Amino acid sequence: MIRLREVSLNYGHAAAVLAGIDADIPAGAFRWVLGASGAGKSSLLRLLNLGARPSAGRLELFGVPVHRARRAVLARLRRRTGTVFQDLRLLPELSVFDNVALRLRLDGLAEDRIELEVTEMLRWVGLGRKLRALPGALSGGEQQRVAVARAVVHRPPLLLADEPTGALDEVQAVRLMQLFVELHQMGSTVLVATHSEMLVRRFPNPALRLQRGRLLDDA
Ligand SMILES: Nc1ncnc2c1ncn2[C@@H]1O[C@H](COP(=O)(O)OP(=O)(O)O)[C@@H](O)[C@H]1O
Ligand SMILES: [Mg+2]
Repeated sequence: MIRLREVSLNYGHAAAVLAGIDADIPAGAFRWVLGASGAGKSSLLRLLNLGARPSAGRLELFGVPVHRARRAVLARLRRRTGTVFQDLRLLPELSVFDNVALRLRLDGLAEDRIELEVTEMLRWVGLGRKLRALPGALSGGEQQRVAVARAVVHRPPLLLADEPTGALDEVQAVRLMQLFVELHQMGSTVLVATHSEMLVRRFPNPALRLQRGRLLDDA
């Protein structure tokens, strides 16, 4: 599903933020992505959501060698991926509903199906009464829940979530984790970067541990 071989990532001429990364993540796996702030968690997820290309090494996603894939192929891979960005990236001029619906509309789903799916998803994350609000009118935690709803609503085969519960209390964080667990149980591959020891304890799964841009062996 995901294969990295000697992957490194540099931004410009600065020192590598990821170096010598070797990993195999089988289809349907759940992996925590752990490490101190600055360890490279977001950078690793950025490679996997094709927001950056490896500076060196080989990366395969869904069996496709990303390091030499054409743009149309990369676009197709992106559609099979759901991402919760650490900085959320909600579209400020679209309502909560439309932010979540956008992806389904791009996929050509019928509008009445979209209405059902998006409403149900937003109710699940506790935002059933905020469908028409603009993101700017929401709290940080509410915005985070919109970002999570948007990432999972099309049930992507690959879900990448970058500290998706940082602004949430424990009850809400666990509730969102249940969405990821459900997706995982339906067969998706799920990677979640977090600092929450509480979540890692409650949802025991193997981890990719980063330290200063290198992957540690998971003990
Ligand atoms: N766009 C960028 N340009 C230059 N350096 C960056 C950029 N993004 C991240 N970095 C650097 O890469 C390192 C890893 O960052 P990041 O992947 O965000 O770590 P984490 O998500 O684990 O906190 C940090 O030293 C950070 O300063
Ligand atoms: Mg980060």
